[in-house]
Amino acid sequence: MKKIITIGLAASVSLSAQEAILDLTKLHSYSDQEVPDYINRDNTPRNNPITDIGATLGRVLFYDKRLSKNSMVSCASCHKQEEAFGDSAIASVGVAGTTGRHSMRLVNARFANEDRFFWDERAPNLEEQTTQPIQDHIEMGFSGADGDPDLSALVNRVSQIELYQVLFTAVFGSEGVTEARMQRALAQFVRSIQSFDSRYDRGFASAPNPNVDFTNFTAQENLGKRIFMAPPGPGGGAGCAACHQPPTFDIDPNSGHNGVTGSIGGGQDLTNRRSPSLRDLVDRNGSPHGPFMHDGSMDSLLEVVNHYNAIPAVTPGLDRRLAGPPPRPGGAPTQAQRLNLSENEKGALVDFLGTLTGSNLYRDEKWSSPFDENHELAYVVLPAEVQFSLGNEAMTLEAKGVPRVTYRLKSSVDLKTWDYGVEIEADENGLLSYEIPELLKAKFFCFVYETSE
Ligand code: HEC
Ligand code: HEC
Repeated sequence: MKKIITIGLAASVSLSAQEAILDLTKLHSYSDQEVPDYINRDNTPRNNPITDIGATLGRVLFYDKRLSKNSMVSCASCHKQEEAFGDSAIASVGVAGTTGRHSMRLVNARFANEDRFFWDERAPNLEEQTTQPIQDHIEMGFSGADGDPDLSALVNRVSQIELYQVLFTAVFGSEGVTEARMQRALAQFVRSIQSFDSRYDRGFASAPNPNVDFTNFTAQENLGKRIFMAPPGPGGGAGCAACHQPPTFDIDPNSGHNGVTGSIGGGQDLTNRRSPSLRDLVDRNGSPHGPFMHDGSMDSLLEVVNHYNAIPAVTPGLDRRLAGPPPRPGGAPTQAQRLNLSENEKGALVDFLGTLTGSNLYRDEKWSSPFDENHELAYVVLPAEVQFSLGNEAMTLEAKGVPRVTYRLKSSVDLKTWDYGVEIEADENGLLSYEIPELLKAKFFCFVYETSE
């Protein structure tokens, strides 16, 4: 049976406003976003640069609940745009229970020096990370174990969906859905999520160097900045910058764990050496986007600062920078860090962390759900601009489609009945051009993408 989805009408047809529309002729800009010149890290692999169409496919996948076993959980269930792509809950709800660690915010992942992902850095790169949640028994349920279907069942499911047949063709030149292609598209989308419009960025851009006080900061925020940057010791710093490296505030790849050793399920977890960027920890009013740390054990930034002010104990794997000097040279430290910050200094540090929050991250449509409330994405619109040549002989019809996709051009006199039509392949720029040899009575033309099921 042939299934047909209409993806463009030469005549203008009004779509109801409620329908979610993915307009592939007017892609959001993911590939040439402005990155400040003081940001010089980029973990984009050479074989997977961000493209507008690739990140668009990634966006649809990221928000599509059909990527989970019970079709109720998408990546965005746990990575919410309004929470800087993290979760307000300590543990997030997956298809089979709740997660063992707190969901990480996804901000500026592209600009992280440490390009292994997850709290314990078990994913060797972002591409490989992206299909692990799908294969997690609790999160999305295509684990291939414990009675779960495996990933090939998901690949099959995605291959059946017309929208993906169009999108995979548009991105990769052919319809086939594979794990590697899903990884590439999802990684492009995650890498596109960036935040560089904070008060810190405005201060940085206008200061002669990052070490001077910023004129757009309060005195407290500037005090907090100095404490964050300076090493602990006589200068009165807290040494945060050694691990959360400005101006991206991503984690030092050589960090050990930071003395937070709890686990959501109880017990000890000494494996966590990665932190998301410290940008967008809180909203514009200073309210946290959910609890902090891998075990979600800290509800406020003041609790975080109190932790570093007096690390509870020296445990195996604690970063040496968070331990006191060893009692004998070359020996193991026995005393964990004591910063002896005053209440005012702690408050200043919290205020400074608040300056790292941006605003576009939370509202840019390009990172929002493309689906409507009923999880439907009704049309992929390819509006056609029809050009008729003057005179009686021939007329040329031109429309913008998805590059290299083959469409069928149908015509109609009344928008009710359509003829069988002819096949036209869009060129590498997406141009569909067809010269109609003789005068047709038809007034309406429709490009459809056909797929056999
Ligand atoms: C059920 C909740 C849940 C779902 C669904 C989910 N995640 Fe996550 N995500 C988490 C948790 C929890 C972590 C941290 C896990 C860990 O470190 O063990 C995480 C970590 C990540 C990270 C690592 C970030 C970093 O800085 O290291 C990325 C990237 C990510 N998720 C992307 C995705 C993508 C893409 C999807 C969809 C394919 C997805 N997640 C689905 C909960 C979820
Ligand atoms: C030795 C390296 C190191 C130093 C120094 C350090 N941190 Fe961390 N930080 C980490 C690691 C590793 C994590 C992730 C820990 C975890 O969740 O288990 C982390 C997590 C955090 C988090 C939670 C992030 C989140 O998404 O939940 C905040 C906030 C934070 N650190 C702030 C600070 C501040 C403020 C300072 C200075 C007082 C500081 N850190 C000093 C390594 C360090």
